[in-house]
Amino acid sequence: MAQRETWTSRVGFIFAAVGSAVGLGNIWSFPFQTASNGGAAFLVVYLLAVFLIGFPTMLIEFVIGRRSKQNAVSAFSELGYGNWTFAGAIGVVASFITLSFYSVVGGWVISYIVGSVTGGYLGQAGTFFGSVSSGTVAIGAHAVFMAITIAIVAGGVADGIERATKFMIPAILVLLVGLAAWASTLSGSAAGYAYYLSPDFGVIANNFTSIVPSAMGQAFFTLSLGFGVMIAYASYLGRDDSLPADSAIIVVLNTVVALLAGFAVFPILAATSGVGGASGGAGTAFVALAGAFGQLPAGQIIGLVFFIVLLFAALSSSISLLEAPSSYVVDRYGVDRPKVAVGVGVVSFVIGIAPAYGYVGLFNDFVFNILLPVAVLFIALFAGWVANRESVDELGRGTTLGEGATTLWLWWVRVVIPIVVAYTLYLGVTNFYSGIVTGAYF
Ligand code: TRP
Repeated sequence: MAQRETWTSRVGFIFAAVGSAVGLGNIWSFPFQTASNGGAAFLVVYLLAVFLIGFPTMLIEFVIGRRSKQNAVSAFSELGYGNWTFAGAIGVVASFITLSFYSVVGGWVISYIVGSVTGGYLGQAGTFFGSVSSGTVAIGAHAVFMAITIAIVAGGVADGIERATKFMIPAILVLLVGLAAWASTLSGSAAGYAYYLSPDFGVIANNFTSIVPSAMGQAFFTLSLGFGVMIAYASYLGRDDSLPADSAIIVVLNTVVALLAGFAVFPILAATSGVGGASGGAGTAFVALAGAFGQLPAGQIIGLVFFIVLLFAALSSSISLLEAPSSYVVDRYGVDRPKVAVGVGVVSFVIGIAPAYGYVGLFNDFVFNILLPVAVLFIALFAGWVANRESVDELGRGTTLGEGATTLWLWWVRVVIPIVVAYTLYLGVTNFYSGIVTGAYF
């Protein structure tokens, strides 16, 4: 067997993980979830979810990945727990279901790149969203997005992924800071900041059962957790890096990008169509941003650059969603990587025809409310109660942390994470079920 590939450097790994984390989740989903769930009230719960649950969960995946040096499925048997491979298998299936709707939204981005060239959304941001977000245009763009994702994954891990992400993160930060600064000059923007930043705790109390599953789902989604992506990425990692330090960098950078997206979107919404209520659809970010580009001097060019960068961010995430199932099939069955990438990608494309016909909300909620918490729950139970202490001690390797820190984390993983996530899952299933029976998705 050939020597297993490793990242060319620690920085390479961090960029790839940030590339997976930063994506449509930050710029499309985060503003959309925040707008649909009461603004700042959601933001508070979301930040707690990211730091108290997401961050320690990322450490679980890093520990399993680096310890086993295997893909998400084989990792469990490699550590000596063959009957836990189902936990990895759930992730593999979940990741290409997630990819199916992710690619549809990625397709929207492609349509907005075209719209930036033709001027198609200028002065009519809402109408444009309506015309590209579902139907044949959406399917065509979804096909293009998926084809690009397949092509990158077919080419191998280190080259494709590492190279693309190195310039994308700085570019996205610069563009978002610029947009946020411009948005602050709009008249009427104050209402946007108020909605985004001053939490009304009454809103949290009254909407607790819907805010919690959305915030937790968003936290897992944006950090690329649950489906073994971070297990697979950490499996390529050298032994002497500090997992907590790497993870902290990834979590903070990812959070900064999402917060910046909010600082652009909410003031723009407030100054144009208004925040809250009607703005809470899947089009929130696209309509707000495209509307802004329509008003900016040189907005078409800025829009073009913005959506191209967003496409790169989306691709560095989608490749991780395709990489997870593909690397498993490659490792396990020894099939050619390009063939596997095409096969898995095509299946995911076909599933994605449904969201491309207007069911993005259904897929989104299924992934956020059910798949993500289920996957995280199993991983946490495994790390907390099944894996032996020797495996768990991988956390401290390459750090100055003592045994005590690992033990503390371990108890958090044993008790707090499973209870919180199980409760989230219960709420998520209830909400999803009532969405189905009340016809909210159809
Ligand atoms: N984190 C990505 C985003 O925010 C999406 C993503 C990539 C993902 N890989 C994942 C979500 C694995 C869950 C699991 O756009």
